[in-house]
Amino acid sequence: MKSKVLAPAAAALLISLSAAAQAHNIPEGAAPLEKSEQCAACHSEIYKEWQESFHAKSSVHEDSAHKAMHQAFSKFLTDQGKKANYHCAACHAPMADNLKALMSGEAAPDSGNWTQTDGVGCTFCHRIEAVDKGKNFDQYTLGKDGAYHTSRPANPKAPHPTAQSPLFADGKVCMGCHSQYINPHEVPVCVMTEEGIGNCVTCHMPPTEGAPAVGSTAKIHASHRVLGGHDLDMLQKAAALDLKIEGGGKERAVVVTVKNITEHTFPSTNPMRMAFVKVRTKDKNGAVIWENFKEDPLKEDKQAVFFKAFKAGDKVGVPSWAAEGLAFDTRLKVGETRSLSYPIYSPEISEIEAELIYLLFPPKAIDTFGIPKDGVNDKRYSVAKKSVKVR
Ligand code: HEC
Ligand code: HEC
Ligand code: HEC
Ligand code: HEC
Ligand code: HEC
Repeated sequence: MKSKVLAPAAAALLISLSAAAQAHNIPEGAAPLEKSEQCAACHSEIYKEWQESFHAKSSVHEDSAHKAMHQAFSKFLTDQGKKANYHCAACHAPMADNLKALMSGEAAPDSGNWTQTDGVGCTFCHRIEAVDKGKNFDQYTLGKDGAYHTSRPANPKAPHPTAQSPLFADGKVCMGCHSQYINPHEVPVCVMTEEGIGNCVTCHMPPTEGAPAVGSTAKIHASHRVLGGHDLDMLQKAAALDLKIEGGGKERAVVVTVKNITEHTFPSTNPMRMAFVKVRTKDKNGAVIWENFKEDPLKEDKQAVFFKAFKAGDKVGVPSWAAEGLAFDTRLKVGETRSLSYPIYSPEISEIEAELIYLLFPPKAIDTFGIPKDGVNDKRYSVAKKSVKVR
């Protein structure tokens, strides 16, 4: 065996980031997966929602940030004389008809192949029969007969087979891709199983107006927009901001609190997501007297940042695949409230303002990895803003 001559760490890197990372289990002779477009004629509303969702844009062919990160990951491997691979496809292009070859690096992504560009398509989710535990991440077993699963019993009104699955009722259907991602050094990149408590479907696919199928008598359907960090309304459901003045004289301070009001860590899962509080004091003319940071909150006021960072050796802020350990994780846990206190010295202060800001990618990561600044990846979300007058 080749791995015998490699140092254990190097062997682990080669094995778990490529060939040994498992593809999904599709039984011999199973009905083929179908292009999501095939469902559009009868499920037009659901199809439109899905098309706009990041599930439809999950592959390197559609998601510019994912593509940039994949290129950086590939370079990391080739710089060490290893073969690049697209093991990311297990979750980002799960329908690929050459998934094993993509994951091992034998095949490169191909934008002309619809089984890759469809991303997390309709038939993949609805054919899920079981979630199988994996070492670095989990996999799915898909049904053989081609029936589309939901939480309801088989539907005689559908022109195609449907079947009931408990995974759709308790939300576990999401967990083959969203449960955990452990890197080759055994560092948890994200672990939803530990960070989240609720039923994913309840919050992320809420009932929405519109028939689920053409000719259906039902008036609502589960939204397939599956909104998350790219959506301001969603972000506003995740965290609440408040501020008040406490104490008096020399002890006077403004206390800013940020409370996690959702059912998983905020910011959630993806380790690049970042949130921070900007605090400003202003004089009676509205001119800024003081602010808790000018350029980089991580350097200037780390307590105000909710972020997870990795380290390798003494280098902090390395990408997840190179991580040898966790540098820090200051994200808000379920139910957690963080209080930040700032003294108010100046008698000129007449107003104090606090703003909770969310970024999909830290500016440094955007520059380092060449993530396109397209107004999506580099959008600055003002999640909440509050102010108090000082007398
Ligand atoms: C020819 C029209 C047609 C096409 C094409 C079609 N469906 Fe359906 N589907 C229906 C109808 C009608 C229903 C039943 C709606 C109802 O009972 O309200 C249905 C129901 C469903 C259900 C829900 C079952 C339940 O009751 O919980 C799922 C899931 C589903 N379809 C998935 C798909 C997928 C995935 C595709 C594409 C591969 C697809 N359908 C293509 C017409 C169609
Ligand atoms: C086959 C894998 C897979 C399954 C199954 C899956 N997801 Fe995802 N999901 C992904 C990937 C990959 C992304 C990231 C896509 C991207 O932005 O490139 C994602 C993104 C998301 C996002 C973030 C959207 C945004 O706008 O940032 C949410 C929320 C989400 N999924 C929820 C769910 C829920 C709820 C379920 C179960 C009903 C589910 N996912 C099932 C792979 C999956
Ligand atoms: C990320 C996984 C995922 C993807 C992708 C997905 N669905 Fe669904 N779908 C679900 C879940 C979860 C439900 C809710 C099922 C339940 O309530 O039992 C659902 C429900 C449905 C229903 C039943 C109507 C309802 O409101 O419950 C239909 C029809 C349906 N999906 C069709 C589609 C079609 C068509 C596509 C592609 C355009 C698609 N789905 C893509 C997970 C997915
Ligand atoms: C109580 C409601 C609730 C439940 C339950 C819930 N979420 Fe979320 N989720 C949210 C809110 C609100 C956000 C937006 C805040 C954020 O992105 O951190 C979010 C964000 C996300 C994101 C987007 C992160 C990003 O980087 O864009 C993903 C992925 C996600 N949730 C997956 C899941 C999964 C998987 C489950 C089930 C284990 C789940 N959520 C359960 C409310 C919920
Ligand atoms: C075990 C499944 C899984 C694997 C393997 C995986 N991802 Fe993801 N990825 C996800 C999920 C789920 C999300 C959405 C979660 C979120 O946004 O918080 C996501 C989100 C992302 C995002 C954010 C996308 C955006 O538009 O904001 C990037 C970038 C990304 N992944 C890069 C990669 C790269 C590069 C690889 C391979 C080196 C990879 N991922 C492997 C599951 C996976």
